[in-house]
Amino acid sequence: MVPRRAAMRRSCLLTLLLSLALLASAAHAQGNGNGDNGNGNNGDTGNNGKPTKPNPKDPAQNYMEIPPNSSGQEGGVCRAQGRCFRRTLTCPAQCSKRKPRMAKKVKGCFIDCSKCETTCKFRKPNCEGYGAICYDPRFIGGDGVMFYFHGGKGENFALVSDSQLQINAHFIGSRPQGRTRDFTWIQALAVLFQDHTFVLRAKPVATSAWNDSVDALVMEWDGAVVSITDGEDWVSADGEVTAERTAEANAVRVAVGRMVEMDVRVAPIGEEERRVHNYRLPEDNAFAHLEMQFRFKNLTDGVEGVLGQTYRPGYTSPVKRGVAMPMMGGEDRYRTPSLLSPQCTSCRFNPPASTSSI
Ligand SMILES: *[C@@H]1O[C@H](CO)[C@@H](O)[C@H](O)[C@H]1NC(C)=O
Ligand SMILES: *[C@@H]1O[C@H](CO)[C@@H](O)[C@H](O)[C@H]1NC(C)=O
Ligand SMILES: *[C@@H]1O[C@H](CO)[C@@H](O)[C@H](O)[C@H]1NC(C)=O
Repeated sequence: MVPRRAAMRRSCLLTLLLSLALLASAAHAQGNGNGDNGNGNNGDTGNNGKPTKPNPKDPAQNYMEIPPNSSGQEGGVCRAQGRCFRRTLTCPAQCSKRKPRMAKKVKGCFIDCSKCETTCKFRKPNCEGYGAICYDPRFIGGDGVMFYFHGGKGENFALVSDSQLQINAHFIGSRPQGRTRDFTWIQALAVLFQDHTFVLRAKPVATSAWNDSVDALVMEWDGAVVSITDGEDWVSADGEVTAERTAEANAVRVAVGRMVEMDVRVAPIGEEERRVHNYRLPEDNAFAHLEMQFRFKNLTDGVEGVLGQTYRPGYTSPVKRGVAMPMMGGEDRYRTPSLLSPQCTSCRFNPPASTSSI
């Protein structure tokens, strides 16, 4: 029932769109996809076709996959109501696949149905982007301000504590003789929501045994190990959580409901890093730890946590600017008794009593 003229107009539009997409890909979009969140519409309607993976509830990701054309370029047709509705977005030739196998060397195609564009990106945390936590942990807050939070080795802290979501981190580290503080890294994360937990953990690995292509990442959903094969997404039984590999090993993207999407990667501490920072770590331990970047979708104005507080409207960072290592305090307010505990002095996680809410 589409008149021929309209069809022609549409194909013109398509060509235009393609050139736009190519242009956009040339300008390597940088990854702090923070801020543009969904206009609270109902989410996964789906006019036709199977529900889309990575996160069916995010309108920007709500598209129907279409088969690659004969040049192998994949694409999608946007399904979410909005200005990109029904538009076909084709992946640029430079990154023709959404989930390339060699994800560390080849950029993946990222289809964005909120901006009607496709871009080429390495699918890994951007340590310089908003909501990133990398290294010994160095944070970039929701306000864009960089700071360090040392916590303490063997301890747990709430990175985010909000009414419907809490994210705790377990810190590992070492204190060389004569130093007044621990050098620390984040070894595990626990996402608490409703009455569920999703845990990501870096396994201890000896320095000599470290191999980028061997998984040192363990994930658990309500205590049961989650395993995902390359190219397949893992989806929780209630559809609230999705996890997919973004490299052959040691890197994943996890989305929890409409609340948070995160890129997480396991990294060892390399020789060069040890030398430059003079960590003086035990030789036999690679100190495998997590690097991550969070994109939050629905935080409340009262959100707490080492990272969470920086997303409050009107937040002014207490850290010193212009120094090499601006420090964030708050250890006492955000320390939790265990990785899975929602309790801390300033924590505010308070999920509705069980039974699902739809
Ligand atoms: C955001 O969270 C509030 C509760 O804190 C909830 O009522 C609302 O539906 C959520 N919005 C979206 C878009 O999920
Ligand atoms: C595949 O699609 C792209 C973008 O629409 C186009 O440039 C390319 O020519 C197509 N290849 C073939 C063989 O149709
Ligand atoms: C790393 O692991 C891969 C896959 O098991 C193996 O093929 C490769 O030889 C290993 N590399 C080293 C340096 O051990």
